[in-house]
Amino acid sequence: MTRLALFASGNGTNVQQIAEYFIGNPNVKVEIVILNKKNAFAGERAARLGIDSVYFNRNDFYQSDNVLNCLIERRIDYIILAGFLWLVPDNLLTHFESKILNIHPALLPAYGGKGMYGHYVHEAVVANGERISGISIHLVNKEYDKGRILFQATCPLSAEDTPDDLAAKVHLLEKAYFPSLIAAWLR
Ligand code: GAR
Repeated sequence: MTRLALFASGNGTNVQQIAEYFIGNPNVKVEIVILNKKNAFAGERAARLGIDSVYFNRNDFYQSDNVLNCLIERRIDYIILAGFLWLVPDNLLTHFESKILNIHPALLPAYGGKGMYGHYVHEAVVANGERISGISIHLVNKEYDKGRILFQATCPLSAEDTPDDLAAKVHLLEKAYFPSLIAAWLR
């Protein structure tokens, strides 16, 4: 059994979709959801699916091995960043080398880097009058959004689309591709 930890900071639609996708799978289990925001709705979504979530603060992440020890205790094999907005600390990058995947809501290398997350990405894409955006799924390294890209999917944008419209299109792509891409990557 391959055991996953999902990291999340907010609403958790990706957490829910990934968790639901693997329910009943004999080979892959979402073991735990790691939160860096105490009341992140991702925790509630996990609970509804019978999955534990644990909150860790900045100190736990960057000044201690608390997160790493939790993952070791739970015998985690892979980490999936599912709407997680902090840089992954070195101790996790070392322990889980090439075993951490992130989804980014734009076509990297465009619209990536520090501060480019969630709605900020969609606002920038719309402000620049882009006619295409999408998702990038990539391996995680010590720089924001710089690891090797494994998969991208695109969506068209019209001149009338607002950042919210774009967010909705991107969420559809995330739902369509992220869980199955994780499954394929694990194989
Ligand atoms: C998702 O769109 C994800 O691609 C993005 O945050 C959103 C989280 O939504 N991730 C990043 O911006 C990472 N840099 P969710 O909490 O509903 O899954």
